[in-house]
Parts: sequence; C-alpha cells; structure tokens
Amino acid sequence: MRMVELIEKKQAGQALTEAEIRFIIEGFTDGRIPDYQMSAFAMAIYFKGMTEEEASYLTMAMAESGDQIDLSAIEGVKVDKHSTGGVGDTTTLVLAPLVASCGVPVAKMSGRGLGHTGGTVDKFEAIEGFRYEIPIEEFIDLVNQHKVAVVGQSGNLTPADKKLYALRDVTGTVQSIPLIASSIMSKKIAAGADAIVLDVKVGEGAFMKTVEEAEKLARTMVKIGNQVGRKTLAVISNMNEPLGYAIGNALEVEEAIQTLKGQGPADLVELCLVLGAQMLMAANKVSTLEEGKAMLQTQIENGQALATFKQFIKHQGGNEKIADDVTLLPQAQYKIELPALTDGVVSNWVANKVGEAAMVLGAGRETKEDKIDPAVGLILHKKVGDKVQKGEALLTIYSNREDVEEVKQRLYDAITISDSAKKEPLIYEVITEA
Ligand code: URA
Ligand code: CA
Repeated sequence: MRMVELIEKKQAGQALTEAEIRFIIEGFTDGRIPDYQMSAFAMAIYFKGMTEEEASYLTMAMAESGDQIDLSAIEGVKVDKHSTGGVGDTTTLVLAPLVASCGVPVAKMSGRGLGHTGGTVDKFEAIEGFRYEIPIEEFIDLVNQHKVAVVGQSGNLTPADKKLYALRDVTGTVQSIPLIASSIMSKKIAAGADAIVLDVKVGEGAFMKTVEEAEKLARTMVKIGNQVGRKTLAVISNMNEPLGYAIGNALEVEEAIQTLKGQGPADLVELCLVLGAQMLMAANKVSTLEEGKAMLQTQIENGQALATFKQFIKHQGGNEKIADDVTLLPQAQYKIELPALTDGVVSNWVANKVGEAAMVLGAGRETKEDKIDPAVGLILHKKVGDKVQKGEALLTIYSNREDVEEVKQRLYDAITISDSAKKEPLIYEVITEA
C-alpha cells in the first residue's frame, strides 16, 4: 500500500477498507507516514466525509494505537460519560457518586482542562488531599470495593489521536464530524468503557454551533459505538450559557455537593437526571428514562448519593468533611460584584466568553503549564431570562487579586441585557437508540 494512493482514493470520495485505515493509523503513529501526508488525508476526509464503517475502523485503529485500559476485572457494565466541552459543567462530580449509589460501577478516567472548559480532575483537585494519580490496579480495586473511582488520563492513551488532533488544529480540519466522532470515541474505548453516554453541547462557543450539526455528530458517535459493540446513548444540550451558577473548581465542588443534597440549580439537576438515567439504561439497570430518573431522585432524597460521594472522596485521600462544611474548601480572598449597567432582561450569556474570563482569573489554564488557583471563579446571580435592575449584581467574582478590571470587561462583553429574552431549552434531544 502507498499512502499517496490512499489519499487519492479518499479524495475521489471512495471508501477505504479496514486494512487501509489500519495501515494509515499504524504508519502515522510510528512515524513512517509523515505529517504532510496525514494532513492531506485529513483534508480529504474533511471534504469527502467517511462512511459509518470507515469511521468505526478509524475509531478502533486509534483506540488500539497505544495503551488500552483493561477494566474486565471490574464486575458489571462499565459506563463512561463524555461531554464535548462545557463551561461550569459540574455533571461528572454529581454523576459519579450518584450513579455509583445505584449499584452501577463508575470507573472514570479524566483529563485536566485547557482553555475555557474546566477539567474534571482539576475540580476534584480542589479537595484537600484528593489523589487521582493512582496506579490502575488501585483504581480497579477502588471501583470493585466502592463502585466509584477517578483516575488521571494515562500518558500513552490513543497516541494516534493526540498526533492527529495536533495536526488538525493547524490545518483547518478540526470541524469534521467523522474526525471529531472517531477522536472522542477512540479515547473512551481505550479507557475501557463498555457503554458510553455522550453530552453533545450546542452553542456559540461549542464545537457544534447548531442543533442540526450537533445531532449529526451525536448520531455518528452513537452509530460508531454500536458498531464496535459499545452501547452508546446521547443527549444534545444547550451551552449558550454556563451550566448552573458556579464556574471555578472549588465553587463547582460546592455546587455538586448542593446538587447531591437535592438543592442544586434547576438546569444542572435536569441535565444530571437525564444523563444519569441514560447511564443506568446503558448499564441495563433500568429500561426507561423515567425509571432511571426516579431511581436517581430517590438516591438523592434518601441521602445515599451524598453518602457515596463522601466515601469516594475519603477513599481517594480527600477530606470528606467538605461535604458537611464547604468552608473547608479553598476560599478566595476577594469577592467582587459585577453590577448591571442597565435595566432589562438577560438575553445572552456567551458560555465560552464566561469560561475565558474565569480562566484569566486563574480558574483555568491557557497553556498546559499554567497553574490553576482552585479557589477562584464566578458565581452567577442572573441567567438568561432573568430580570435585572441597573446596579444589581449580575455575578460575584471570587478572586485572589484585587485588580479584576480585565475580567470584568470580558464579562460585560459576554452578557447582553435587552428588553426581552428568548429562553432556549436546556435539552434539545435525547437519543436512546442508533
Ligand atoms: N474533542 C476531541 O476529543 N476531539 C475532537 O476532534 C474534537 C473535540
Ligand atoms: Ca456550574
């Protein structure tokens, strides 16, 4: 096989075979196929697309390009959840203990955050003592004994995807549905998931700008998953404004605790119940969404969800007393309110701009080397559709420096106050079958 012929085949719009796709991914991973040929191939996919079969072959070839986590020592269906980049998205912190409290094993491998979205392990790291860099054997033992554990992403997971994503980033080939779908699915499969629940975000700052595009991506991933033997379900949700009220690591831990206590923000609660119910469905614990939601709600009301959270934090070395006393979480020195400049109704709160403001404050990383300040972040007081009066606080900035002028400016750029607002639904679609 010659790479140039395979590029030309894709360029002509023909479908590649499994052997051809494996040849490309293996050659690219070990350096025999140079970046310029791989870039041309990505561009051909960008324009010509891929069949479902090709996308499945690509997914598996990338999943098998490096380490694969073997979770077979854990009993039961291991369900993983993935979100395509949210701001203030605290769902994993809630769902891990909540779903585990229903008896479904949650073996969560998570990464650190970059840019305007926060990483799950960064959020857990806001808890004093919490360790996520644990050996895989310990991780598996924890899940077997207590149903839930979180581990940092292994260094050599899907190296083909890592290299390809870096190329796509600089060759204008990120926005391709088969490439995005296989990139996400390959990582979940290499991390050992038997079943996968996807939260595909739609919004100005999200990968997918329209519901139609998001639906196409979601359906592609569901089809890939089912084709490679992993039951996959998806939700299409709104990321036109941040989820919940809190953005920032310790603040989001606090919001997750409130949610596990049954006092969470309406949008976060709704999304957690739907995604959690899908996780229970994927694990064959329940057969309908309604049944799943009812089970989750019971676990919140009877205190089991919170109890599981405390045990989980304790077993990973964290101070579980934060669940009863959130002042034990890192606290910011300054609390600065952002006043509304006019009367009206909040009509837009661009999530990625809010996320960038939080990043500038120190809640996120601009480069991989940046250090996060767990204490800092934002608490929104107004969401889209809320009335405001001039001078009223739109949000509170939690900061460890007094000068937050740039952050304020970014936040004013992110919000629009008008005469009226159109409230978009939080969940556009729930996909439960291929
Ligand atoms: N997230 C990924 O992991 N891969 C993509 O290609 C896009 C978003
Ligand atoms: Ca939040």
